[in-house]
Amino acid sequence: MSPHSALEVFGETDAGWCAATPPNETSDEDGRPLVRREGFTAADPRAPSRRVYDDPEVCALRERLRRFNGLQGLEIVAPHEIERARRIFFRDGFVVVRDLLDAEQLRSFREASARVLRQILDIPGFGGRKYVTETARLPHRYSYGTSSASNQLLHEPMWASMIDLPTTTPILKSLFGGDDYWVDGAGGDLCLPGAIEYQTLHSDVRERFELPPERLAQARRLGVELRTGPDGALEDRARALIYERTPPRVTVNFLMSDLTFENGPIRQIPGTHARPGSPPTQADEPEWMRLSTLVGAPAGAGIFRDLRAWHGATPNVSREIRAMPNVEYAAPWLDEAEFDLSMPHEVWATLSDHARKISARIKTAPGEWPAGAGTIHPLTSRRSEAKGSPSEVPGFYRAPAKARPDRR
Ligand SMILES: [Fe+2]
Repeated sequence: MSPHSALEVFGETDAGWCAATPPNETSDEDGRPLVRREGFTAADPRAPSRRVYDDPEVCALRERLRRFNGLQGLEIVAPHEIERARRIFFRDGFVVVRDLLDAEQLRSFREASARVLRQILDIPGFGGRKYVTETARLPHRYSYGTSSASNQLLHEPMWASMIDLPTTTPILKSLFGGDDYWVDGAGGDLCLPGAIEYQTLHSDVRERFELPPERLAQARRLGVELRTGPDGALEDRARALIYERTPPRVTVNFLMSDLTFENGPIRQIPGTHARPGSPPTQADEPEWMRLSTLVGAPAGAGIFRDLRAWHGATPNVSREIRAMPNVEYAAPWLDEAEFDLSMPHEVWATLSDHARKISARIKTAPGEWPAGAGTIHPLTSRRSEAKGSPSEVPGFYRAPAKARPDRR
């Protein structure tokens, strides 16, 4: 039986707070501990020096968060406020929408999120550490997507059932300018109590500043005026508006708990979704960005995020897990080569007509199991092994794996 059989992803828990895991320590692909000074897993130079709930530095951080954490005037919209949600999303690069899940959906998504997390936490840590730190992540932080050897959780019926909800689909259609968009994955992330470091501010997807004809067509459907100059070229203003309003990828993160000042609320920097520059490094990030978090967003709500917008995880100095599983969508113009097969045909067949249509690029053929699906492990080396070995699911063939950059 799992030592974490009673684990829940909301409310008080004994999970996390491993004092034997030094601050800022990440893992290489085999689990060897190391600290990085640059890049996505760069150390947080302002992190407390001990991972202990009552440590004076942790208490000082908690007190500062209690006083200052959270975006002032965060707007939280209702699912029927589609126009308002769209206006905020195109302006800020994200929007919080409450009540995406009803009580039963929230209960069952919490249960599934806890079940997958137990598989990660049951793996014994190295050298007295409670847990294995995920390759290229800071301690006590895991991705449901990258922990899966298929890079997605679309073989999980719970995640697949979230693709087409009466609360999310009308907003997604409004953001994409119609029902011509795709699903390209599902996963999400979580942090355990005791994740005391800030995650480096980053974009999940970089804008490539390309305008294929299909992207122009989508912009037209969204009502962007494609004004041209005397030379017939698009005006700069029209070009900038197209980039701003046609994100390559949009995700919906579902909140399993309320986001509080101390449980690691995601930070989002408004208006950064179409910026050509890079976000600041850990050392250069100003305090106002570190405090630009979505405190107040309630359980059952979701965050629609343009994946280009600058964002990052923040310290969880509470006693509660902060989990936000997600579904990821792609623009109609995204190249077919960017999609991987991650949803078994047999799961696909149970979905609504619309969900089946938008999942067409990621579903396998009947009887074919997505490479790696079903193996959950925090280390890259163990996931690669699982992806390369034949399917262990009786009666299924293994779909071939494709190389694709890891998500963050
Ligand atoms: Fe990210």
